[in-house]
Amino acid sequence: MDKNTENIKQFITEDGSSSLYNEHLRESYHSTHGAWQESVYVYIERGLQKAFEKFDDEEIRVFEVGFGTGLNALLSLIEARNNSRKVLFDSLEPFPIISDLVKQLHFPKLDEEQRTLFTHMHAQPMDSSFNYGPFFSLEKKYLKLEDFQASKGNYHVIYFDAFAPSKQPELWEKEMLQKVVDALARGGVFVTYSAKGQLKRDLASLGMTVESLSGPPGKMEMVRAMKL
Ligand SMILES: C[S@@+](CC[C@H](N)C(=O)[O-])C[C@H]1O[C@@H](n2cnc3c(N)ncnc32)[C@H](O)[C@@H]1O
Repeated sequence: MDKNTENIKQFITEDGSSSLYNEHLRESYHSTHGAWQESVYVYIERGLQKAFEKFDDEEIRVFEVGFGTGLNALLSLIEARNNSRKVLFDSLEPFPIISDLVKQLHFPKLDEEQRTLFTHMHAQPMDSSFNYGPFFSLEKKYLKLEDFQASKGNYHVIYFDAFAPSKQPELWEKEMLQKVVDALARGGVFVTYSAKGQLKRDLASLGMTVESLSGPPGKMEMVRAMKL
């Protein structure tokens, strides 16, 4: 694996926030209708907030597939602080972006302190944990999902934010889903922007309770699934 990012370009989505476009895969990292609003809607409001409700007196362990721009991680830090809840955030990223690209990312809603935290998250070395105050710690894992071995039942929330099933089908195979479902604690929450029928069927066959929820602006549906 290397920092193979020369084919990745920054662009502005319809809500004014940045995303990235992978020219090789011809795929963007977020909805073109709005990166910020998609991340808040899918991962924070339907994922992290749900876990706060369900596990109301525990620290929350989050597992993300694809650190990418780091937007989900930063929004999770902000949400953890706003709720005075402790969040331990592990994120896989086999292709971290270069610092020139990080500088180009623009999120108008961030204040100066949040922007500094965001820059730090990207500069933080891979495979080491860092505490961002009492409520948030981050570890970026320099690893592909294919090579990841999670402890069973470790996480309360999974942000499944891989590139689309049409672009990286291998990450959406039942074997990969089995791996992340195994990593979820009982009662844990799996969220993703995708609403593919096969995904829903596979999650159900792995014993998950699957919900099709309305999607963020511009998208019909998203999937949330809970482990019984
Ligand atoms: C849709 S983007 C993630 C967006 C990200 N969550 C964010 O907030 O910007 C998909 C990410 O998965 C990463 N990725 C690609 N192949 C992967 C693999 N085999 N395992 C895990 N992540 C992978 C990409 O480098 C990319 O950062």
